Order: sequence, then structure tokens, then C-alpha cells
Amino acid sequence: MNGAAALAAGEAAPIDPIQLRRALGSFVTGVTVVTTLTPSGEPVGLTVNSFNAVSLSPPLVLWSLALSAASFEAFDHASHFAVNVLAQDQRALSERFARTGGDKFGGVAWRKGIGGLPLLEGSAAHFACRTAMRYPGGDHVILIGEVLAHEHSERAPLVYARGRYAQIALG
Ligand SMILES: Cc1cc2nc3c(=O)[nH]c(=O)nc-3n(C[C@H](O)[C@H](O)[C@H](O)COP(=O)(O)O)c2cc1C
Repeated sequence: MNGAAALAAGEAAPIDPIQLRRALGSFVTGVTVVTTLTPSGEPVGLTVNSFNAVSLSPPLVLWSLALSAASFEAFDHASHFAVNVLAQDQRALSERFARTGGDKFGGVAWRKGIGGLPLLEGSAAHFACRTAMRYPGGDHVILIGEVLAHEHSERAPLVYARGRYAQIALG
């Protein structure tokens, strides 16, 4: 029985990860690059669309990190991280930080924020966070950050849905 038939019959069916990914792609998100520093001070980052708001008071945000990510160790040990919300003209940065390995920061305009956290220039918003909580989440770990500082611009954010980038017309 496929997923749609199981839903119609009111029964649970084995979940096909590929179909699940397609269904989740119907949920429109922004795109972020989450960054941190290794213990030796090297910048690390990856493209993330699992970012979300949690709480305003206290100020909390979350994102989930694949256990398989090359940057997993760096974020697992990091006391702080930064979330760079990409602007609609930063699609190339999203693609660059979604590739594992290599020098992701080479030739990229970035500056150091609180604690030296890498902030990408031209982003729609930045959040500098303290890693407040870590929860197991299947093949990901869920990281909750306490927002220590933030800023945003009038740049329109980049949008992602159904595995593709999109632009929005803000009213
Ligand atoms: C739009 C988009 C969103 C992504 N969101 C996430 C995410 O939320 N969590 C995650 O672990 N990987 C996510 N990825 C995949 C990582 O960016 C990708 O696996 C990257 O190579 C990881 O870098 P690393 O292996 O250097 O750690 C996303 C990729 C794209 C293109």
C-alpha cells in the first residue's frame, strides 16, 4: 500500500524516505547558512533550511544537523553558532555551502561577529546564538540556540520549495 492509499484507508504504511522528502518539500522555507568556528579558529558552515523560530522570551531558535555532515563534530562541540538568513541574490552561497569539503569561505565576503562567529555579508538577517540545548532527532541532532544578538536588512529573503529556489514578491 502506498502512502496515499494508506492515508485514505486510515492505516500506517512504511515510510519511503524519498517520498517523505518530496512531501516535506511542499513546506516552503527560507535558506540559511549556519556557521561556527572549530577549536583552532577555522570557519565552518553549511546550508540549512530546517531553521525555525522557537520562542521570543527567552529568545530561542532551532535547526537540525545531519549526523552524517562533515561539519557535525564542529557543531557538536561548538558553544556558539551564527545563522545567516540568505537574501534572494545569494543562491550561489547556498549552493556553495551545500557542498561538503573544500574551502567554503574562500572568496566569500564575511566578517567576525560575537566571539568571532562568521557572518556572511549581504545576508537578509543574522542571529548570533549560544548553543542552549541539543536533542537527538533520528538521523539528525536538533540544536536550540539562545539568540544573543541579531540584525536584519530590507533585502528580500531567498526561498526554497520542492527542492528548488524561488523568489517572493513581498506586498
Ligand atoms: C536548501 C538546502 C537545505 C539544507 N538543509 C539542511 C539542514 O537543515 N540540515 C542539514 O544537516 N543539512 C542540510 N542541507 C544539506 C547540507 O547543506 C549539505 O549536506 C552540506 O554538504 C553539509 O556540509 P558539510 O558536509 O560540510 O557539513 C541542506 C541543503 C540544501 C541545499
